[in-house]
Order: sequence, then C-alpha cells, then structure tokens
Amino acid sequence: MCGIVGYLGERDAYPILIKGLQRLEYRGYDSAGVALLDHSTLHLYKKKGKVSDLEAEAAGKNQSGHLGIGHTRWATHGPPNDNNSHPHVSNNGKIALIHNGIIENYSSLKEALISRGFVFHSDTDTEVLVNLIEDVMNSEDLDLENAVRVALNQVIGAYAICVFSLENDRTIVTAKMGSPLVIGIGNDEFFVASDATPFLEYTKKAVYLEDGEMATINLDHGLRVRSIKDNRTIDPYVQQLQMDLASIEKGGYEHFMLKEIYEQPKAIYDTFRGRLLPDQNMIKMGGLFEYKEKFLNANRIIIVGCGTSWHAGLVGEYLFEDLARIPVEVEYASEFRYRNPVITDQDVVIAISQSGETADTLAAIKLAKEHGATIFGICNVVGSSIARETHAGAYTHAGPEIGVASTKAFTAQVTVLSLLAIEIAKMKGTLSETRYHELLEELNGIPKKMEAMLQSDSKVREISERFKDATNCLYLGRGYNFPVALEGALKLKEISYIHAEGYPAAEMKHGPIALIDENMPVFVIAPRNGQYDKIVSNIQEVKARNGKIVAIVSEGDTEIAKMSDFTLEIPDSSEAFSPLLTTVPLQLLSYHIAVMRGCNVDQPRNLAKSVTVE
Ligand code: F6R
Repeated sequence: MCGIVGYLGERDAYPILIKGLQRLEYRGYDSAGVALLDHSTLHLYKKKGKVSDLEAEAAGKNQSGHLGIGHTRWATHGPPNDNNSHPHVSNNGKIALIHNGIIENYSSLKEALISRGFVFHSDTDTEVLVNLIEDVMNSEDLDLENAVRVALNQVIGAYAICVFSLENDRTIVTAKMGSPLVIGIGNDEFFVASDATPFLEYTKKAVYLEDGEMATINLDHGLRVRSIKDNRTIDPYVQQLQMDLASIEKGGYEHFMLKEIYEQPKAIYDTFRGRLLPDQNMIKMGGLFEYKEKFLNANRIIIVGCGTSWHAGLVGEYLFEDLARIPVEVEYASEFRYRNPVITDQDVVIAISQSGETADTLAAIKLAKEHGATIFGICNVVGSSIARETHAGAYTHAGPEIGVASTKAFTAQVTVLSLLAIEIAKMKGTLSETRYHELLEELNGIPKKMEAMLQSDSKVREISERFKDATNCLYLGRGYNFPVALEGALKLKEISYIHAEGYPAAEMKHGPIALIDENMPVFVIAPRNGQYDKIVSNIQEVKARNGKIVAIVSEGDTEIAKMSDFTLEIPDSSEAFSPLLTTVPLQLLSYHIAVMRGCNVDQPRNLAKSVTVE
C-alpha cells in the first residue's frame, strides 16, 4: 500500500522516479508526487490521480536534480487530494519525506507539535512525521540521520520512509518498520523502493532492510545501516536479484492481468520445477522435509490468508483432508488474529500470501508463533516479510504479479498446496503407491491442459459480451470447486464492479435462490469428477426459475450442456486438480467483462496490490 521510490547519483532523478512510480502504481494509485533536490533548491510536484496526472502537472516545469524521492498513494489518513499527496515538507521547508504505512500515535504527536507552533496543511500522519523530525533536529541539534532515528523512537506504527534535507544533496535517509523497503546499489548511485522493480535495469545488487533498521545513503560514504532502537551498526546483506526486466513488462498484452492469466501454465510449471519428479516417483520440498515430523504429528493444520489467498487456502482444506486425512481450519487472517484463537505447539499454520506483506497475515503468523505453532509460508515475493517470518516454506515461483487482481498467484498457491498434501499423504500412508504415482503424473500434465484451455478464450469473450451489463451474478460450485466459485465472484466484482456472490451450490436453496429471475446469470462449476448429479439438480433448480446458466463442464459433457445457456469446457482431471482448470475461464470472463465495461482492470478503483495496513 503506497509505493515509494528514491534516487541518489549522477543521473537525472525525475525520469527514474516516474518510471519507478509507474512500476509501483499497483501498490496504490490515488495520487502521486515527487520531490527533487537541485543543489539546495526543492522542486515539488504532487497531484491527485495517477502517475500520468503527476507527469502532466510537472510537464514544462523544472525537473532537474540528481537526488529525488517519489510516492504513489493509497489513501489512509485523509482523502486523495493534492494536499494529502506525498512528499510532505516540514514547516521550515527544509525536510522532504515520503512514507508507506500508518503512524498510529500521530494524533498525540500532532497535538504536541501544534502546541509548539507547528502548522499542518494536510490530514496525513506523514506530515506529522516530517515535522517531528524537524522538531527533533532543531531542539536536540542533530543531523538528519540522528534526528530521524530519535523521531522514529517516538513513533508507534508501520512505516517505510525516505527522507532528505535541503541542506545536503548527497544524502538520503531511509527506515523500515512493517512496510517493505529495498535499497539498490549501483556504481556511485543508489535507489530506494518498496520493491526492486523500479531499479532492475540499473542494478541487481540489493539490500532488503529488516524491521527496525534504518539506512543512510551518502555519495561519499556509501551505505550505512543501523538499528533504530539502539543505534547499533548492522552489516547489510547485499544480495543478487534473480528477477529480470521482461517479467515486469506487459510483453505485448493489453493488460498485465491478461498476461498473467496466460502465464499460468508456466507459473505452475515453474512452481513444481525441481519439486515434482514423476519419473523418480517423488516430490522434493526442502521446507517440508525439514519440518516433516511437525506435519505428521500435527493435531490440525490452520491455514491463514486474505482474499484470493484465503480462497487458495480453502482448496488446501479439501486437499489435506481428502488426501492426507489431517483436520484443517481455514481462517481469515484478520479474524484469526483478534479472536483469541486456541493455538498449541501441536498445530501447523500455513500462511498464504502472494505479496508476503499483507499486514493481517503477518500479524496472524506472529500470534501463532507466540503460541508455539510451526509456521509454513507460501509466498510469491522472495524475501518478503512473511517469507522471513515463517519457520519454513515454499515459494510459488509465479514471477511478479502486477495486475492488482490476483490470477497466476492463486493457481500457483493451489499447486504448492497440492504438492504438500500429496507428499504428506504419502508420508502418512493415506495414499497408496499407485495413487501417489497417478497424482504426480496428473499434476505434471496440468500446465499442458491449461494451455489447451486458453485457446478457447474467444468463446469466453462471446459469453462475456452477453453478460457485460449484468448487475448481479451468482457463482455456484461444490466440493473442491466451492472455493473456485468464491474466487470467480471476487474476480468479477473487484475488476468490473458487478455485484457477485459465490456459494456452495447446495446452499442456494437456503437463501440466494430468492434472487434468481430471468436477469440473473448463474455461473456453475460442474466438472464430471465432482458431485456431478447433485450439481445437475442445482442447475435444474436455477432453470426452473428462469435463471441464465453458464456452466463450466468437462470436455464432451452433453447432459449439462442441454440445460445450460452456455457452456465452457475444461479437460478432464481428478476432482483434486480441477480448481487449477476451472478457475481459468472464470478469470478470463471477469477480464473480458471488465474491459468491455471500460474498467481499469490492472488498477481497479479503491484497491491496492499489497495491503500493508490492517
Ligand atoms: C484479489 C486479491 C486480494 C489478495 C489479498 C491478499 O484478487 O488480489 O484479495 O489476494 O489482498 O494478498 P496477499 O496474497 O498478497 O496476501
């Protein structure tokens, strides 16, 4: 939530900041701003709206400066407007700051600053922080670096900040607590950002700051990392990034979301590369083997996540209970953390998160850890906070997901859960050798089946045309495909703003059936290997009330086809793997409907990719 970027070096900062902000726009896009330091002169441009609005604002104005910071905002304190946009500048006009996170005690700090004569021009907690730094600097006669450290010790909350003083055009100070921050190290130049994408073309050398650390970047002295709490010097761990530029560009697709839907066969393949070895009849997962006993002796597995990751967790529940016979509870991280849950050291908690930064999921992990549970993470972003907080884990190697609506991360998460469940089932002896081998072979074939399905995109587009003006939609599924119904509905509502609900198909008659009339599209996920006859009855119930049926069916199905207004076929698979296939046409459907309605699919209103506030 909110993207921050900074540059210090020989180049012009402005174009680097703008390009960086465009790459970080997935983190928030209510407003954007840059502050450039041109020797000792500040050029400050900020604007409500997208980075393109900021560019229009700055066009034709002085854009010089070799030091600069930029911000793209997802509003927390105060509505999106020019005043609330970052960077914020302190009262004496000498310190500029950008911030991602929330300062929880901002109101008491603000009152104290007002009583000392400070004036505020925005509703933000960030303006409080920049003035607090100025106040500390003046009252304790400190340089910027030490003033930032002293000020941060008075702050409660989450932050990644980037700050500079107009009196020193060779230094940027950054700090992190709870929000991500990475420093790129080039040749006589430095970059700061919420993730590494803004500086990939300049350097692959990066330092990820840990919570409670601050870094001072200086063109003469290089990078210095210290602890915010006690000023201890810390040796930074410089790592070589593996990401390449192509993976964060659209590569000829109209939208990132479409590209990412099409990337799914590869994402799944990459996720099980080196792990799924059908020829050797084995699954190799380092994280699992290290904590094998914990899984085998677990009382239960608790899966925590939010949004789409929570839906993947629900598929995991079916997999673990069905294959490995381990009881599973799937919890919204936000509810779990606050309801005084019963957790013991016999529990294994699986935390699922694409970004690895979701605040509620991170807090749920910390809580479970305090109670002695073993935490296994499934994250997409390498080195993210959640990945670092877990005891063990497995990355989904889906590659960067930039479209705000999650697609390939979901199927990659389900892939990891499938690998885990199959392997644990084998270790527990709940799966025969033959069935184990069959499942490995079948999972290995899923990317090819997905590729084939993606060929039917034109049919999905035709159906989308038919339903693009719907105002309400229902998604029904049973068993393994109930979570897919939830996910299908979420995808539609978040990018096309059409109201949609996902339900277990049998629950329809306990309420939602009242909504069905000739205007209500009902998307039914009905592959052959689920509770087929039951879902056929559910379809009849909808038809009897004139609802419009779009059914996702197995290849060659004629029975449901006869009852449905439209069908979309998926290749045959075991029920356990069907979510990996049934999800895809629903993603495409949401995508096309959103495009036809003129919505911004990659950056839907009010959303942000990485929810680092609770
Ligand atoms: C929906 C979506 C969100 C995320 C949720 C959790 O398309 O993207 O619902 O799934 O915010 O995010 P992560 O997985 O990053 O923890």
